[in-house]
Amino acid sequence: MHLPRLVAAAAATCCLALLPVTAATPAGASGGPSVPDRPLRQLAADDHLRVGTAVDMSALTDDAAYRRLTGSEFSTVTAENVMKWEALEPRQGEYDYAAADRLVDFARRHGQKVRGHVLVWHSQLPSWLTSGDLTADELRAVLHRHITDTVRHFKGQVWQWDVVNEAFNEDGTLRDSIWLRKLGPGYIADAFRWAHEADPHALLFYNDYNTEWTGPKSDAVYDLVRRLRAEGVPVHGVGFQGHLGIQYGLPTDMAANFARFDRLGLATAVTEADVRMEMPADAAKLATQAEGYRRLLDACLRARHCISFTVWGFTDKYSWVPDTFPGEGAANLFDEEYRPKPAYRTLQSELAGRARSARPDDAGRTRPESISQP
Ligand code: G3I
Repeated sequence: MHLPRLVAAAAATCCLALLPVTAATPAGASGGPSVPDRPLRQLAADDHLRVGTAVDMSALTDDAAYRRLTGSEFSTVTAENVMKWEALEPRQGEYDYAAADRLVDFARRHGQKVRGHVLVWHSQLPSWLTSGDLTADELRAVLHRHITDTVRHFKGQVWQWDVVNEAFNEDGTLRDSIWLRKLGPGYIADAFRWAHEADPHALLFYNDYNTEWTGPKSDAVYDLVRRLRAEGVPVHGVGFQGHLGIQYGLPTDMAANFARFDRLGLATAVTEADVRMEMPADAAKLATQAEGYRRLLDACLRARHCISFTVWGFTDKYSWVPDTFPGEGAANLFDEEYRPKPAYRTLQSELAGRARSARPDDAGRTRPESISQP
């Protein structure tokens, strides 16, 4: 989408702001075809793509509008927090699956697939694990058990697992974490092997941020997954989180970066897309935000094996951004009152446009089932 239509989308949304999502958007200022106001999940299905969102389980329980849109707009859901180690195993050997099971049940009732997030990460770990007195052998046994117990519990119910999350630094070196310090780099391969043993049908992903474009960090991820697959380690996909901030400029070579992972035969996915800005929001920032989302979706749609595009929450009402980046916000597709923003309309338009016209550079999206197991 070139900028003039983008501005038209922003203008259209400013005037539609008080209309419900069901209103069809008018023809763009350039007189282009009107965009069918169909849910993202329907528009994406025409292209064998699942569009998803991270889910805040408190909001899903307490907020009817949130619950309605979570079910109507998305065909895959990710647990924003309730499948993390601190939530699932708050005390060693004692599991609390209740909230995660509610998400899995919601997904089943709404014809959605589940992204499991996250088995091995350096953050949101329970204090009994990080207290520091576990030996290396004890920690490895604890990791093996947590992965096995968790993946077995959700066996057959989780489509994709983020097995290892954010293992690299910006310069491509391995992040200093409890896992690397005590277990060495081998923890990564172990985690994938143990997850695969527990559920041979789940697609197992490595997930990270600032890897959407080419650079030392995405190079390191590329080298890691290429080596692991060459060693027969069951890595099936790479997740590009997609946390952007318009004040840093928008990435330009994401499609080329995704393509090299495509060529490895891996699945790819945008796993946590949001595009934040320095507040207050205004029409120009919202238009730039829409372009950021468009570029992320375009990179995915151009990749034969990009099988899902997930936003990290869909409404500014519950975004993680303001608490983490003071003075920033407005990162999501809908505002605090669930009004669609230009970014939402841009995703609708992009999906509708791609489904209508076969992409010249691709005979068609590879179905997830055909993703090669190493
Ligand atoms: O559960 C406690 C609650 O008991 C307490 O009352 C409350 C007040 O402090 O905090 C609650 O924990 C919060 C947790 O989310 C669950 O809501 C933590 O403070 C808060 O820091 C945590 O933030 C999450 C963040 O990961 C932690 O790093 C965000 O919601 C979540 O969106 C964010 O998601 C991560 C992905 O998992 C990985 N990729 C990056 C992404 C953004 O950081």
